[in-house]
Amino acid sequence: MDRQVRVALLGAGYMGRLHADRLSKIPGVSLVSACSLPVKDAENLAASFPQWKINTYDDFDRMLEKESFDALYVCIPPFAHEGQVEKAAKKGIHIFVEKPIALTTERAASMVEAVKEAGVIAQVGYHMRFGAAVKELKKLMEDGTAGKPTLFDARYECNSLHTPWWRSKDKSGGQVFEQVIHLYDLSLFFLGEPELVSGFTANLCHTHIPDYTIEDTSVSAIRFKSGALANIAGTNNAVPMAWNNPFTVVCEKLTAFFTDANEAEFVFTAGEKPERKVVKGDRDMYLEEDLAFIASIRGEGPRAAPIEEGYTGLRLVDAVVRSSMKNGMPVVL
Ligand SMILES: NC(=O)c1ccc[n+]([C@@H]2O[C@H](COP(=O)([O-])OP(=O)(O)OC[C@H]3O[C@@H](n4cnc5c(N)ncnc54)[C@H](O)[C@@H]3O)[C@@H](O)[C@H]2O)c1
Repeated sequence: MDRQVRVALLGAGYMGRLHADRLSKIPGVSLVSACSLPVKDAENLAASFPQWKINTYDDFDRMLEKESFDALYVCIPPFAHEGQVEKAAKKGIHIFVEKPIALTTERAASMVEAVKEAGVIAQVGYHMRFGAAVKELKKLMEDGTAGKPTLFDARYECNSLHTPWWRSKDKSGGQVFEQVIHLYDLSLFFLGEPELVSGFTANLCHTHIPDYTIEDTSVSAIRFKSGALANIAGTNNAVPMAWNNPFTVVCEKLTAFFTDANEAEFVFTAGEKPERKVVKGDRDMYLEEDLAFIASIRGEGPRAAPIEEGYTGLRLVDAVVRSSMKNGMPVVL
């Protein structure tokens, strides 16, 4: 029988619900409590999953004191991180935390330190790492088929006002922090440690919206320690209500054109004639990441997307924004 895993949720909005839904598909997992501010979100979520009899809270400390659980899903906006991960880790609770793991690198470093000290498992919500085509390319890079990685070229496109906290610089950090971070993470996943970054951000089409204080356009150029290069762009001025994130990875012997993390055309370039192969999967990447997290807690699988890499990703997007504030002056990482 599957080892029982008792889970609590912090934040019961879009992502809290999404993870609750995926957890409901994993045998042996139960959601015992949920905390949100205001509490209404947690109450609504509890009503949607009556099989679990979820206790609800508006105070995280109280939930931590009253409830007994093995793992905590943290699905709150970046500005709301104020030591909850550190407190849970101290109690020996394993943590799944949505990206970006914090609004500041200082808070993120404190989370990593707490997790390390407590020896708990902590995974970041980088679901794109679990796409079928992303996994296949990673395998071909690791076994030498792809050859040296040289270039990562990516674009995150959407057009939506999202939630009020999302469009507030003080609360979300901006689109680079909130969304394009998925592509920044993939650049790290494929190319390794970054060395130098230069970035530009602009608000070109949303200046008339009073509470829209973030960028709606961004670009960056990154040099990695291996010498590989990346350019990553983001826009919130593209097709309304469509979220697309195409990217290309060029390696010495393989170029991979991704439509998204699940689908790509791989062109093998080592032979006399290029050979093409379509890699397409229909993985639910969110279910995959939740399965990986639960398996690692049960000791049945490796740790995936560890919180340390959530910190590295945050340092990179933070450097992009800092560079943009100095007219693109390169920031050394
Ligand atoms: N991985 C992905 O694809 C993906 C997609 C969307 C959002 N996210 C991330 O998930 C996180 C949450 O985003 P969302 O879209 O679910 O937001 P949301 O606004 O839909 O929900 C946020 C929830 O947090 C609660 N909350 C806010 N402050 C709180 C506090 N101090 N204490 C307790 N609860 C608090 C709110 O009540 C709400 O229930 C963000 O970091 C976001 O970047 C990830």
